[in-house]
Amino acid sequence: MPNSTRTLRIAMNGVTGRMGFRQHFLRSILPIREQGGVLLDDGTRVQVEPILVGRNEAKLQELCAQYGIAEYSTDATSIIDDASIDIYFDAQVTSRRAEALASAMKAGKHIFTEKPTAETLTEAIELARIAENAGITAGVVHDKLYLPGLVKLKRLVDEGFFGRILSLRGEFGYWVFEGDGQPAQRPSWNYRSEDGGGIIIDMFCHWNYVLEGILGKVETVTAKAATHIPTRWDEEGREYAATADDSAYGIFELENGVVAQINSSWAVRVFRDELVEFQVDGTHGSAVAGLRKCVAQHRSHTPKPVWNPDLPVTEPFRDQWLEVPANADLDNGFKLQWEEFLRDVVAERPHRYGLLSAARGVQLAELGLKSSAEGRRLDVPEITL
Ligand SMILES: NC(=O)c1ccc[n+]([C@@H]2O[C@H](COP(=O)([O-])OP(=O)(O)OC[C@H]3O[C@@H](n4cnc5c(N)ncnc54)[C@H](O)[C@@H]3O)[C@@H](O)[C@H]2O)c1
Repeated sequence: MPNSTRTLRIAMNGVTGRMGFRQHFLRSILPIREQGGVLLDDGTRVQVEPILVGRNEAKLQELCAQYGIAEYSTDATSIIDDASIDIYFDAQVTSRRAEALASAMKAGKHIFTEKPTAETLTEAIELARIAENAGITAGVVHDKLYLPGLVKLKRLVDEGFFGRILSLRGEFGYWVFEGDGQPAQRPSWNYRSEDGGGIIIDMFCHWNYVLEGILGKVETVTAKAATHIPTRWDEEGREYAATADDSAYGIFELENGVVAQINSSWAVRVFRDELVEFQVDGTHGSAVAGLRKCVAQHRSHTPKPVWNPDLPVTEPFRDQWLEVPANADLDNGFKLQWEEFLRDVVAERPHRYGLLSAARGVQLAELGLKSSAEGRRLDVPEITL
């Protein structure tokens, strides 16, 4: 019975940033390390050893000291060339990603990366080609598909709960402070298109894998992008012009005739249970899923409201839905995907969410921006390598 433990050395670039630090380092890699690695089917374990990579030496040193990490580097190029590194992970600002991923794959590293993989479809496809030729395992964050709310929603779809699925409507957003009074809760580059910002490039790649992972492939897109807040204040309190879209109103037609409509906005106040919610309606039932919770209403429990503006509403509509149980211990979504990716690396097989899926996300963002600029509906062509 084998009981050996193999260790994968992971260069983590961008760990001083919001996503890199909180979701990937703190919530994924550190707990995986603390639990003694990932258990494989053959009874052996694969342990992780993070090497922190970034531009700010003081911050990296501080993280190493605080979390007991042995190595760090401010030289991403030499880390990528270091033969002892197995995996390169990237959570840098979007604009720096494509080049780093390309050199890491060319150096034979497996890669795991935040989305979007690139700012343009051409670059995203090129990355997918490099991955294919390099024969490495490449994974891109599809975190929403691992979250409890969407796992439950997917289960309802797989079980045929909805009958014929008609539509999905999604609401994503919250108020991101302008930064003049209270500091903004998101980085300022998100609001400058020249720095890779914008809600369409940020969110449409999520919506692409959510739609294709749960309901079906996207065939057309109609979008309207808006910059509702034209002036914001950055991390140093300096006023800047917000050149990127902060809101997007999108309609997506799916391969099976389902119509999906998703609003994304950093200029909206929340009157919902979660920051993102998706409602799916079908002939036999409906469900509303957030990141964690999912409620459903079957055809046989559907009330029969009658439109009458002269009378106050008496039906407690929200109480007429039943919570869908998890029936499993659903861990942090980022950690679950990391664990699956690490198993794939050891098994030398492709990860189920690779760079082609990432490219389709970038494609949807690019077409969304184009649709908005031209004021028309666009087809989403199949990507081939
Ligand atoms: N999966 C998700 O749900 C999700 C959510 C938010 C952001 N993201 C993605 O994660 C990535 C990082 O976003 P974030 O919100 O953590 O950003 P952030 O600004 O907090 O972090 C960016 C990181 O990149 C580094 N960096 C390297 N070069 C830089 C440069 N020239 N200017 C500024 N920073 C530079 C920073 O030091 C920092 O470590 C983005 O690509 C974003 O699209 C994903």
